[in-house]
Amino acid sequence: MRRTIIAGNWKMNGTIGETESLIRGLLAGKSDNPKATVMVAPPYTALFPASKLLEGSHIALGAQDMSEHEVGAYTAEISAQMLLTVGVSYVILGHSERRQYHAETDSLVNAKTKRALDAGLTPVVCIGETLEQREAGKTEAVVGAQVDGTLKGFTPDQLAKIVIAYEPVWAIGTGKTATPEMAEAVHVFVRRKLAALDSKAAETMPILYGGSMKAANASGLLGQPNIDGGLVGGASLKADEFIGIINAV
Ligand code: PGA
Repeated sequence: MRRTIIAGNWKMNGTIGETESLIRGLLAGKSDNPKATVMVAPPYTALFPASKLLEGSHIALGAQDMSEHEVGAYTAEISAQMLLTVGVSYVILGHSERRQYHAETDSLVNAKTKRALDAGLTPVVCIGETLEQREAGKTEAVVGAQVDGTLKGFTPDQLAKIVIAYEPVWAIGTGKTATPEMAEAVHVFVRRKLAALDSKAAETMPILYGGSMKAANASGLLGQPNIDGGLVGGASLKADEFIGIINAV
């Protein structure tokens, strides 16, 4: 049985006060579902106050990125150790916005993933094709290369601690969701790629879908056998909408 994870990626949204009120909204509503692990990833500046509010609750805390380095002269970077000290247990890595605007490559994501695992954080490794790549029939080639590149060199034990998020770039923040069948087809492909690395990891690794998931389309997506949850952007910024997705599991 694979874990189901519903994760909110709050991106660059939320002052401390706004983050606190969103968390209060989630905690006041029916945001717990025994069938799902719930995680939220506020901006760095709000992580510490968020962790205070979330302490002892059913909601885990995530960060949106971290450095591949352990410590040192890396201006503005945030280390795994720093995240641990503010109560973070998950870290999103290789999000398409990091790849697009900050030129992150698969090998960098691989280094960050290794660092996260060494520190005891759960990496949520993002992969996904652009519209141009999909239209050129390259989805499997692109996503396959991302799986190979980001997960290179990990032992079966390390692979067992990784979460994947398949996020077609053309569906992120656009309101265009992959149909459940389209998403499932890529998830099946990813699981087949994983099987080449380790058959047990392929069975147990949660593969989340991301890209304009909302309460209204969540049950169709989450009903697919290989979609093990969601990485939710826009819809996770409204407590009611996010709770709707949690309860669609
Ligand atoms: P979206 O973002 O739900 O707003 O499309 C998803 C993501 O970028 O993780």
